[in-house]
Amino acid sequence: MFSSPTLQIPLFYALLVSAQSSFPLGYIPLAVKTPYLNGWVTSDSGISPAKNWPTFFTEDRLLGWGGLIRVDNQGFQWMGNSGFNFTKTLTSEISPTKSVFRIQAGPIQFNATFLTPIEPTDYVRQSIPFSYMFVDAFSATDGQAHRIQVYSDISAEWVTRDNGQVVIWNTTETDTMVYHNVTRKTPFPMIENNNMAEDPVAYYAMAKRSGFTWQSGIDIECRSGFLANGTLPNSRDTGFRPVSQNWPVFAFSVDIGTVSPGSQPDPVVVALGLVHDPLVTYATDIFTQRRSGYYWSAYSSIDQVISAFLSDFSDARSRNSDFDTKVLSAASAVSLEYAGIISLVTRQIFAAMDITIPSMQPGQFNDSDVKIFMKDMGVSSRTSPVEVIYGAFPALLYFNSTLARDILVPLLDFQSSSSKQHPYAVPDLGITYPVILGNFSDTQILAVENCGNMLIMAYAHAVKSGDGSLLSRYYTTFRSWADFLIDNSLHPRNFITADGLSNPDMSNLALKGILGIYSMAKINEAVEGSNNTYMDQATQLISSWKQLAVSNDHIDAIYGESTSWGLIYNLFPAIWLDTGLVGNDTLASQAGFYDKQMDSSNPGLDLDSSQPDVTYPHWMLMTAATIPDGLPGVRDRLIQSVYKQAYRMTNQFPLPVRYRTSTGDQLSGFGSAIQGASFGILALSLPNVDIKADSVNSSDGNTTNVGGNTAVGGKPNVGVIVGGVIGGLAFLLIFLSGGYFLWRKEQKKQPKGVDSTEVVYFKASRGTPPSAATAAMSSKQREAFRERADQPDPASGPAATPTPIVKSRLHPRVQDGGAER
Ligand SMILES: *[C@@H]1O[C@H](CO)[C@@H](O)[C@H](O)[C@H]1NC(C)=O
Ligand SMILES: *[C@@H]1O[C@H](CO)[C@@H](O)[C@H](O)[C@H]1NC(C)=O
Ligand SMILES: *[C@@H]1O[C@H](CO)[C@@H](O)[C@H](O)[C@H]1NC(C)=O
Ligand SMILES: *[C@@H]1O[C@H](CO)[C@@H](O)[C@H](O)[C@H]1NC(C)=O
Ligand SMILES: *[C@@H]1O[C@H](CO)[C@@H](O)[C@H](O)[C@H]1NC(C)=O
Ligand SMILES: *[C@@H]1O[C@H](CO)[C@@H](O)[C@H](O)[C@H]1NC(C)=O
Ligand SMILES: *[C@@H]1O[C@H](CO)[C@@H](O)[C@H](O)[C@H]1NC(C)=O
Ligand SMILES: *[C@@H]1O[C@H](CO)[C@@H](O)[C@H](O)[C@H]1NC(C)=O
Ligand SMILES: *[C@@H]1O[C@H](CO)[C@@H](O)[C@H](O)[C@H]1NC(C)=O
Ligand SMILES: *[C@@H]1O[C@H](CO)[C@@H](O)[C@H](O)[C@H]1NC(C)=O
Ligand SMILES: *[C@@H]1O[C@H](CO)[C@@H](O)[C@H](O)[C@H]1NC(C)=O
Ligand SMILES: *[C@@H]1O[C@H](CO)[C@@H](O)[C@H](O)[C@H]1NC(C)=O
Repeated sequence: MFSSPTLQIPLFYALLVSAQSSFPLGYIPLAVKTPYLNGWVTSDSGISPAKNWPTFFTEDRLLGWGGLIRVDNQGFQWMGNSGFNFTKTLTSEISPTKSVFRIQAGPIQFNATFLTPIEPTDYVRQSIPFSYMFVDAFSATDGQAHRIQVYSDISAEWVTRDNGQVVIWNTTETDTMVYHNVTRKTPFPMIENNNMAEDPVAYYAMAKRSGFTWQSGIDIECRSGFLANGTLPNSRDTGFRPVSQNWPVFAFSVDIGTVSPGSQPDPVVVALGLVHDPLVTYATDIFTQRRSGYYWSAYSSIDQVISAFLSDFSDARSRNSDFDTKVLSAASAVSLEYAGIISLVTRQIFAAMDITIPSMQPGQFNDSDVKIFMKDMGVSSRTSPVEVIYGAFPALLYFNSTLARDILVPLLDFQSSSSKQHPYAVPDLGITYPVILGNFSDTQILAVENCGNMLIMAYAHAVKSGDGSLLSRYYTTFRSWADFLIDNSLHPRNFITADGLSNPDMSNLALKGILGIYSMAKINEAVEGSNNTYMDQATQLISSWKQLAVSNDHIDAIYGESTSWGLIYNLFPAIWLDTGLVGNDTLASQAGFYDKQMDSSNPGLDLDSSQPDVTYPHWMLMTAATIPDGLPGVRDRLIQSVYKQAYRMTNQFPLPVRYRTSTGDQLSGFGSAIQGASFGILALSLPNVDIKADSVNSSDGNTTNVGGNTAVGGKPNVGVIVGGVIGGLAFLLIFLSGGYFLWRKEQKKQPKGVDSTEVVYFKASRGTPPSAATAAMSSKQREAFRERADQPDPASGPAATPTPIVKSRLHPRVQDGGAER
């Protein structure tokens, strides 16, 4: 903890120094708000939004998002790559909600900030699929006054993966704002094309202000017009055409006027949104529902949503600064490397989730039926993957326990209400996000994993929030899972883990199963108020487990094989939930063992000795949360190795789900919410509280609302805040600088002094060719899809497509005019 500001300074510099020497970030989050609004930028130099186009988080799809600036009539490009005179990025920083670039354009320096609001205590704001970008903090290095104009545009690449698709658009002006909207002429709802949605409407919006102009048009014309004139003509391009045919872009510019030393113009703020509605189709064997974003419960038109988002900017900025300060002050009390990891992963945890409500009929939503769905980002299109939610759970409970409840509800609802039932918990709600069909496949092989995860999470939610409502409501289901575990956990044979380990008698998997039974005992206690046999079972099983698994200096990964070892991350709930099942001596010797296994030159420690040279950063960090207080050095070494992997230029996507322990080479998984496991260390400070649950008639499933065994003195969830708050000084991570200059030496020089009339503004896509989004649909999916197509859009949702004026399709212009790509 920091008690005085003087302590902060050396630590702050310590990070700066280490960041400069070896750890720049290779891929920087820009607008990371939903599974589909998920734009990042490759930073060759470790710092720069210029010279590269942003990409979708999967890295295989460019997303046109550009920025220019004119200083005393001389133009520079500060974002994107049109082969034009680039600005120089001086520094960049990330915090949990922001990426900030300090940029030099001629004699002017300014900041470009990408703010993706995180609003864990407000579902309306959290679910709005918009992100801010703003330019401010101007200063002149020569101390003179300068005339400044700023420009930004997006292309239509955000709304489809297929550059051959015809897109349609318009620009809407109200009294207070202007927004561009663009979508596919024939949206293809509810089907993903390599992770991208094919039905969204992209919005690019700005509040009106003086000196403000806009344009839709050919990329070259909009950009060169701005560079020549410093303004845009407020004109619409009406020639609807494919994405890459004369690249239609949607632009804004602001003539800020003359900025004199000491004066500071208002920030230039734009909002980028990607709206698709409904968000998901939820089609179980019993019913089919179209579910929309929670924010539609508060607004009745997209104009209202955009206008509210734009006018909320300065409040959102200060709320999110507070959020950053609180989270980073708690994280920095652990270590600055830990704060660096938290800064990187927080956005992606929230962006993996959709907070939904059912649309009853056009414009009507039932906001008391909230369900949060999570996509298995970067790995598959599974819905609500249980092991990923288990990883993310410490973060969810840390930020707002209601999130944790509402993400469990769809899994519990599905498994307790369906006509088909397994005696064990399922791994997910199906593999076809955003069409949610449930999963009745035979997944018994994963059942110890999933029953354990579900019971642990249900109890964790109750005991950290005091809210026992789920315990009573799904009591019968929980019991069937616990009974399954009693039969199968101590000696899990013919079971695998979600990580794909398939040895018999794996101690980490057995431990999870036993903790599931322990959780059931506590659930039973909460709803029936009496002692029960589950606790006896859990106690007996854990003592057998200790005999089988714990050898002289560590926990064997496989019973009886003393050379086997692994990251026993399931010790985390044993500690976090105050079970008292595993003693400090075991934890301490296991920690000492990790210390001996770790090779400081590696960016990780293997997950399991049976799978050498493979690790999972989230399980390393969940393991770090199991290291006893007396051994902070071991915890910090685990954190440092993950930090080393995250802040590494050569490894573009920071923190994949799996990578090579020795080299850091990524194996799979970008942008996953499973990195929420890193919040395990902070979540340790959430105390257990008394659970308020309704009692259940144990003869089965009948809830009697009699107030249960409500314990007196239950405390509310403490919610977000832990740790001391550092007054004023936001703890942002700085990286850059050194890394940038080192790297530049090897880089080809950019062409210089090109006359503006000769400049070729160009863009080309790299990566996978667009595949038709006709991936095999199940019959259920087709049904859901037809159902969607047949119904009129809710009047309040994104507007229906207008009758477009479509020009005959020309051959896309070859855009390879000899520049960077
Ligand atoms: C501008 O950016 C720099 C570095 O990226 C940062 O230190 C500074 O706080 C930012 N200024 C404002 C006003 O955001
Ligand atoms: C958690 O989120 C819900 C939904 O937005 C909100 O009603 C509640 O107040 C939040 N809880 C806390 C502790 O902020
Ligand atoms: C754009 O917005 C306007 C006004 O809401 C609407 O009439 C139009 O249909 C929208 N167009 C697209 C392509 O979304
Ligand atoms: C675009 O919006 C303008 C102004 O609202 C309207 O006059 C025009 O008809 C719209 N164009 C299309 C193609 O919808
Ligand atoms: C600059 O503005 C003038 C007058 O508004 C216009 O005629 C001209 O086409 C513009 N230049 C470019 C390159 O757009
Ligand atoms: C809204 O949802 C709640 C909770 O699921 C449910 O009890 C209620 O019946 C629903 N209301 C309507 C009008 O369907
Ligand atoms: C059920 O889940 C398993 C594991 O993720 C998957 O292999 C299977 O395809 C799923 N079945 C369905 C119907 O989604
Ligand atoms: C359950 O039994 C244990 C020991 O047998 C006792 O310590 C505990 O208080 C009992 N719990 C309840 C709720 O009666
Ligand atoms: C185990 O360690 C924790 C945390 O350091 C401490 O609170 C607890 O009292 C210890 N338990 C025993 C039995 O020593
Ligand atoms: C459950 O309810 C039934 C019917 O009301 C009653 O006969 C039975 O005794 C109850 N069981 C318990 C454990 O309360
Ligand atoms: C639940 O209670 C109702 C009314 O008391 C009864 O009709 C029903 O059979 C009970 N269901 C079960 C599963 O016990
Ligand atoms: C690009 O930079 C060079 C050197 O600073 C300058 O001479 C040239 O005019 C710039 N190009 C444009 C289009 O502003």
